[in-house]
Amino acid sequence: MEHKQLKAFPKDFLWGSASAAYQVEGAWNEDGKGPSVWDEFVKIPGKTFKATNGELAVDHYHRYKEDIALMKEQGLKAYRFSIAWTRIFPNGRGELNQAGLDFYINLVDELIANGIEPLVTLYHWDLPQALQDEYMGWESRKVIDDFVNYASVLFETFRGKVKYWISLNEQNIFIQLGYLMAVHPPAVIDPKRMYEANHIANLANASVIKKFHEMNMPGQIGPSFAYTPNYSFDSNPMNVLAAEDTEDIMANFWLDVYAWGEYPIFAMNYLKEQGIAPTIEPGDMELLKEGKPDFLGVNYYQTATHVFNPLDGVGMGKMNTSGKKGSSEETGMPGVSKKVANPFIDRTNWDWEIDPQGLRVALRRMTSRYRMPILITENGLGEYDKITETNEIHDDYRIAYLSSHVKAIQEAITDGVTVLGYCTWSYTDLLSWLNGYQKRYGFVYVDQDETQNGSLTRYKKDSYYWYQNVIATNGEEL
Ligand code: NOJ
Repeated sequence: MEHKQLKAFPKDFLWGSASAAYQVEGAWNEDGKGPSVWDEFVKIPGKTFKATNGELAVDHYHRYKEDIALMKEQGLKAYRFSIAWTRIFPNGRGELNQAGLDFYINLVDELIANGIEPLVTLYHWDLPQALQDEYMGWESRKVIDDFVNYASVLFETFRGKVKYWISLNEQNIFIQLGYLMAVHPPAVIDPKRMYEANHIANLANASVIKKFHEMNMPGQIGPSFAYTPNYSFDSNPMNVLAAEDTEDIMANFWLDVYAWGEYPIFAMNYLKEQGIAPTIEPGDMELLKEGKPDFLGVNYYQTATHVFNPLDGVGMGKMNTSGKKGSSEETGMPGVSKKVANPFIDRTNWDWEIDPQGLRVALRRMTSRYRMPILITENGLGEYDKITETNEIHDDYRIAYLSSHVKAIQEAITDGVTVLGYCTWSYTDLLSWLNGYQKRYGFVYVDQDETQNGSLTRYKKDSYYWYQNVIATNGEEL
């Protein structure tokens, strides 16, 4: 619907930006940190672009004060970062590593001293390798207690200091890419194992949220879901149904569990029919209901458009990796749907669709179905940014992308959606899990070349100044 006038952003709106430990910190084996599954996975030849890894990343571990000074100067209100489990418990559990915890205590204190709200992600994909080795990580229910134990230490340490917590980042992505497409650790291709691991991750997510509430933590907690709203290619009823089925299997299958503690009916029937539904033990569904989040986090980048895919169609789970252009995800599901290009939508140079109204669709669908506050935990544009001889980065394409998405949020707020805040991805440029440093998302350019031999000097991009003004005007000037 079109509004005569858009509502202003709330006064306390969290204008933020985000990162993840493995992608920025470096210092992969310093101060007692143990190895994560990503530290090991990147060693497998061919898994990442030119074997790039997070050993140094953008060295945020040693440069966090410099990075926070840039945030402060920009006027950033909130910074979302993740804690590396292996800094706190090098072996996933057992003895606590105080030096690792100290890093985050200093980081949080520095943010607060500079007037920036810390938004903490408990898990952004870097599972302790020790837990993978010992009991196959997310495939064992043992991980639930270990995750709750790790999180409880953080809750107690940051009680009163950190008010916003993100439990699991993009469970739908790390599970599908890890157990169906084999492009993330543990590099498995097995739908049955995928749904089993996913169910255990759901239980871990609910348990951590339940614990947070039991500990009477001041603040709020919720998961961050990678939501790609699904459209039908046209009004052919078979295509409409294909899009709805995809929405059930690819989105409701996680969001319904978070918000309601229920699996969606159609998707679950389909998985049972295929013999790949997860094993539900007595008490599981009760636990899922007890771990109700306070908000839903959403990472939004693009939408996906579908046609019906008959049973003789293409297979599920093809993925394009390592620096090649092209769609990052192929969601062709025989008997369900096949992804096609949307003729109304432009694409980035990385072939991601640019659809600001899709963010509005996402926020509205989530609100209609769940009626919960939403925190936008990621949104951004990956590009091959170029730095000029005078160290400027003219990323007008990023400004256009972000500005149209912020406008869509304002429209959604006017529609009636409750949005707590907006985090761009990312603050500084950082390591792309599979694509090294070619794909940049930041407001701050980091001199890090493809062979990881840059000076790591930080330079402000044009988008840095653009966001500075958005924040200063509370979204009035986009
Ligand atoms: C989602 C992930 O949370 C983040 O780690 C990743 O780099 C971005 N999206 C971009 O793909």
